Order: sequence, then structure tokens, then C-alpha cells
Amino acid sequence: MLFLLPDFYKMEHLIEDLPVLDGSEACETFTVSKDQDTGKKRKLYIESYGCQMNFSDSEIVASILHKEGFDTTSEIQLADVVFLNTCSIREKAEQTVRNRLTQINTLKKQKPDLLVGILGCMAERLKSKWLEEERIVDLVAGPDAYRDLPKLIEQVDEGEKAVNTFLSREETYADISPVRLNSNGVTAFISIMRGCDNMCTFCVVPFTRGRERSRDPHSIVAEAKDLFERGYREVTLLGQNVDSYKWSSEENNKSLLEKKGINEVVNFAGLLEMVAQVNPLLRVRFSTSHPKDITDDVLYTMARYENICKYIHLPVQSGNSRILELMNRGYTQEWYLNKVKRIREILGEDCGLSSDMITGFCSETEEEHQDTLSLMNQVQFDFAYMFFYSERPGTLAAKKYPDDVPEEVKKRRLQEIIQLQTRHSLQRNRLDVGKVHQVLIEGYSKKSTDFLQGRNSANKVIVFPKEDFTKGQYIDVLVHDCTGATLLGKGVH
Ligand code: SAH
Ligand code: SF4
Ligand code: F3S
Repeated sequence: MLFLLPDFYKMEHLIEDLPVLDGSEACETFTVSKDQDTGKKRKLYIESYGCQMNFSDSEIVASILHKEGFDTTSEIQLADVVFLNTCSIREKAEQTVRNRLTQINTLKKQKPDLLVGILGCMAERLKSKWLEEERIVDLVAGPDAYRDLPKLIEQVDEGEKAVNTFLSREETYADISPVRLNSNGVTAFISIMRGCDNMCTFCVVPFTRGRERSRDPHSIVAEAKDLFERGYREVTLLGQNVDSYKWSSEENNKSLLEKKGINEVVNFAGLLEMVAQVNPLLRVRFSTSHPKDITDDVLYTMARYENICKYIHLPVQSGNSRILELMNRGYTQEWYLNKVKRIREILGEDCGLSSDMITGFCSETEEEHQDTLSLMNQVQFDFAYMFFYSERPGTLAAKKYPDDVPEEVKKRRLQEIIQLQTRHSLQRNRLDVGKVHQVLIEGYSKKSTDFLQGRNSANKVIVFPKEDFTKGQYIDVLVHDCTGATLLGKGVH
């Protein structure tokens, strides 16, 4: 055995890559579809950009098209249909997709029958403009139009271009069982709601994803149960603002109970409890929480169930109350700090806490930027995604406030918060050294098959020697070292 008496000092080369701290890069990450071989006639290749909601939607798309004679492929050269599931959150995210289209154009020249489609948020934002701007695009489908894809593809097969960017008030794809495209077989995402009603002034999401709607809790629980039975051990409940999840049988008119005259109402705390009860061995996570909406009820529910992970992604965006008001976030600096205090009172200091931050929002002064640094010092986030403000056409900020912080100032402020966050991540990780953590094993470490990795309840990645441990198992790991991104340890027998 290679590491009979592991020399941990030499483990440095195993340390995982530093997390992507400059969020402007984060949108460049994408996943491609896996290889499915069930003998279907045509091959579908999907690349997904942006947030987890998009990745989750690609799994719904794959499921819809599987029934229509498509297997997915991870090789674009083999594809009959290429879909880019796109993101509009920042200008850079859109640019990435445009660059990719230029590359795909070369392929289309060799293979003129290749169908190229744009899905997701950029499809919704630009609608039929795609067909004027990029001749390579044959099909455009917004996030609520995926059931229509078979028909749209047929239209293209018949020699026409096809567009559907209709936004729905009801669509949740509740009945569609997603094809897990990038699965490790242990952790999975479950979409619990769609759209967003918050209207943060900088944000394009309410325009690209439409009105907020919650999915039937029974279909969510059924999906979680099915995943558990198939060996999965962790689910992450997804929504732009999970704390405003609200489903009632009366409004949705779908429940049997409603027919019996009983109105069943489920809020997010209720849903969390229902999913936590599926099985004590099924971990439950969720994202994203909104500081103005997360309730004590949710925090107490988290405290009551050991299998609900003690980790909250609670984006603050700015530490200054005037900027928060301009952003229409619905809370002040004091409110946010009080929420953090409450979280730590109810769930303890070890509860993982992460954030998103935007620097250089319209009219942000140097002092106001200092307030963000000061808030970060007070909270000490475990992790953060950090961005500089990118004006998005059509948003309230684009209409009302000039984008007046010079780019070099935005970037300098961004560097300052990244540097501070890097320090905090390391400090917070150091607090975990010397402790035993329960880890759900997700697979091999990125850098060596002699090591495995998984996460603790607080969402920290922990790498440890493989020994005889296997994927999907819960084990205790004694952590003896760390970087800002990873904890290093050894399984306790
Ligand atoms: N629903 C989540 C966030 C969704 S978008 C929430 O409310 O927190 C993910 C992150 O992108 C946001 O939290 C914000 O930090 C960032 N973001 C959104 N619009 C942006 C813009 N116009 N410029 C820069 N960053 C932006
Ligand atoms: Fe965008 Fe705000 Fe909705 Fe998040 S809560 S998706 S930032 S509008
Ligand atoms: Fe991007 Fe749309 Fe998600 S804009 S961040 S893919 S909701």
C-alpha cells in the first residue's frame, strides 16, 4: 500500500484547486451531457452554462427528448442536435456563449444537417433576435418551453426556424423524471420552484425565468425517495429564493385532498421536514436562501433533523444599507448581521455560511465599499462568490441608475474583497483542523485515485486516503491540515 504511514506533508499535490473566487469566471464553467446508449436513432449534445438551475433543466430536456428518440452524447462530433443552455447573469457569461457559437459554426460547415439550438436565459432574453443575429441558430427555446422541444425540432426538420419563449405561470416540470447527466450517483439536485418575484434591481433572472411558482411537494418527496432507492445519499433543493417556497393544494388545484375539501399549505420549513423524513441516511441541502425571507422556523427545522446539512448560502451582495436599498434587496446591514447572529445561536458556530457579493454597483462610494469589507470581517464567511457589477439590459438598475463606477475601480474593489475572503476561508478552515467530521463520500479526489473526497455537513470538501472506503458511504474523518479550499484528513476506523 502506498500510504501505510501517510506522510501528509507530501499530500500537498493532492490539495484541490482553489475555489473559483472571482465569480465572473464561474459562469464560464459548464457541463456537457453524458453518453447514453439505449439504441435511439439520434444523438443530443447539451452544454449547460450558468447556475445549477440550468444544469438541472438540461436533465429535464434530456428526459423529454429521450422519449422522442434521442440518446445523449458527450462528443459534439457525434451529435445530430447541439443545445447550448445559456446564462445571462453577466455580460461575460453571454460573451462566453457567443464565442462558443463561433466554434460550433466550424462544425456546422462540415455537417450542414446539424441542428443548433439556444436554450435557457439568453434564449429568453433575446428571443427571435437570435435568428437575425446568428445565422447558425435554428431553434430558440426559453426555460418554460422545453415540453415543446419535440415539436420545435420537427419544425426545424421540415426546414423552418423554430422559436418558443413563452413564460408560464404554472410550469414546474413536476411530472418529468430528470435524466441525471453529470451524476456521481451519490448527490443530486431537485428543482423545487422556478422563477423569481424579487426584482433585485441589478438582476436579469426575473425577466429570463418569469414569475415565481412552487412545485407540488409530493412530487418533490417522490423524486427524493426514488433517488434514495437508487443509491443516492444527498439531495439539494434548488430555487432562486427557496425561503419563499409556498404551495397550496387550493391554488394548485392538483391534490386529492383538495377534492375532499381540505386545503393543504406547505411552506419551505414544511417541505424541508417532509424531505428530511424520507430517510435519516438521505442528506438534505438547499440553495439559495434570501436574507429577508429565511425564517426561524426554517432554522429550527434544520436544527431538529441531523440529516439537514448545517450550511446556508445567504448572499449579502453589499454591506452598505444605502446600496442594499438601491439594489432593492429588502434588508439592511443590521438586519443581515442579526440574521447571522440568529443562525449561529440556533445552529451553532460551525454552521457553514457563504455569500455572493457585487462590487461597484451604481454610485457605490469608497466608504460604502469599506462597509462590505467590514461586514465580511464581522461575519467571516466560509466561502463567497464575488463579482463586479455588470449592467444588464432591461433591469431596473439599467433603467434608473447610471453604471458610474469606473471599471478599474470595480476591479480593484473586487480584488480587495477576494483577498479578504481568501484569508477568511483559510481562517474558518483552520477551525476545523483537529476535529472529526462526518463525511459522505462522493468519489475520488480530483487529483488522485489513491484518495477519496466528500463533504461535511457544513459543505467543506474533505480529502482523505482511500484505504477500503467506498463511494456513497458515511465515514468519520479526522482533519489534520487544510488550505483555504480543502480540508485534509484520515478516515477513523
Ligand atoms: N437568487 C440568488 C442569486 C442568483 S444570481 C440570490 O438572490 O441570491 C447569482 C449571483 O449573481 C447573485 O447573487 C449576484 O451576486 C450575482 N449577480 C446577479 N446579477 C448580477 C449583475 N448584474 N452583475 C454582477 N453580478 C450579478
Ligand atoms: Fe435575482 Fe434577486 Fe431573484 Fe436572486 S432574488 S434571482 S438576485 S432578483
Ligand atoms: Fe444565469 Fe439564468 Fe441561472 S441568468 S445564473 S442561468 S437563472
